[in-house]
Formats: sequence, C-alpha cells, structure tokens
Amino acid sequence: MHRDIQEVLFTSEQIAERVQAMGEAITADYSAAARRGEGIVMMCVLRGAAIFMADLARRVKLPMEMDYMAVSSYGSGVKSSGVVNITKDLSGSIEGKHLIIAEDVIDTGLTLTYLLKNLRSRNPLSIEIAAMLRKDVPRPQEIPCKYLGFDCGDEFVVGYGLDFAERYRNLPDIGILKPEIYQ
Ligand code: IMP
Ligand code: MG
Repeated sequence: MHRDIQEVLFTSEQIAERVQAMGEAITADYSAAARRGEGIVMMCVLRGAAIFMADLARRVKLPMEMDYMAVSSYGSGVKSSGVVNITKDLSGSIEGKHLIIAEDVIDTGLTLTYLLKNLRSRNPLSIEIAAMLRKDVPRPQEIPCKYLGFDCGDEFVVGYGLDFAERYRNLPDIGILKPEIYQ
C-alpha cells in the first residue's frame, strides 16, 4: 500500500470484477441497437475516467466509438466549485447515436448535471451514465446512473484514475487519502 493511503477501499481485483460485470450489462443492453446498425459512443470525462473507460470499453463486445471530453470543476482542491468548464470538447458528433458517459465518481453531481444538459441538446438517441464510484452524499439533483461500480462513503479517494492535485491516478487500487496530505 502507498504510504499516503490510509485505507484501501477497493482492490484492483475487485475493480476488475465490477468492470467486467458492467461491460457485460452494457453489451446485453445495447446489442439490439448494434444489430439495428445504430451508433454507440462511449465518452470519457477526462482525466479521472480515463483508466476506467479504457478497461470498461474492452469489456463491451459491440462496435462502438470512444471519445473524450475534458471538464474542470475542481482545481487542485477537494471540494467541488460548482462551476463546470468544458476545456476539451468531443471530437465527433453524438447526434442520432447512443451515448454512454464514463465518469470516475459522482460526488455532488454538479459536473454530470451540467454535462447531461449540454449533451442532451446535441440530440443523441439515448444517454446513460457508467460511473466507477458514487459517494453517499445528499445531492441537489439525483443523477440517473445505470451502470455503477461501487457506492462509497463521503471520503476523498484516489487511485484508478482518481487524483489529488494530479497525483495518485496510477495507483491500481482505490483508497482513502490520508487527510494530512490535503489539509
Ligand atoms: P461532482 O461534480 O461533485 O460530482 O464531482 C465530480 C468530479 O470531482 C469527479 O469527476 C472527480 O474528478 C472529482 N472528485 C470528486 N470526488 C473525488 C474524490 O474523492 N477523489 C478525487 N476526485 C474526486
Ligand atoms: Mg472527473
């Protein structure tokens, strides 16, 4: 275990098992759409979801595009600012296609509330969310998350793509960061 981690919440083995199950669920749910020739796009909310989407996409046994969007809402702190900026937009169109948003963690939900509104206006056939983690916190708006890795408590976690000040993304497990690191 990394010395800045207080407790490992989910090991790489547990994560791989969940991601496999999520990929199977997505494959089952979208196979009819794929047979009808409808486009499927899985998009990654950079940078936190990059590792998650790379793993999830390889568990989906259907033809699909992968695309990337970058948003900033956090800076280098640990609390959501509530202001979301698109710093890199999708490269392709999602109009008339099924969109699956891969996100690392749903915390306040502010990022996804903003993204859902923005992406719906581009007229995709459907939108669903696949999130690795969902924190057990009250949210101003409920986020419809169809594919979920794990629920977790209201603690600041890192690893498997999740960072604090751009560090720890490459840890294979998800763990709670020692509070003295960010205090
Ligand atoms: P929300 O808008 O509050 O739901 O926050 C979403 C974004 O905040 C996530 O995509 C993460 O990038 C970041 N975030 C929220 N909680 C954590 C955490 O515990 N560790 C690392 N990043 C987090
Ligand atoms: Mg993120």
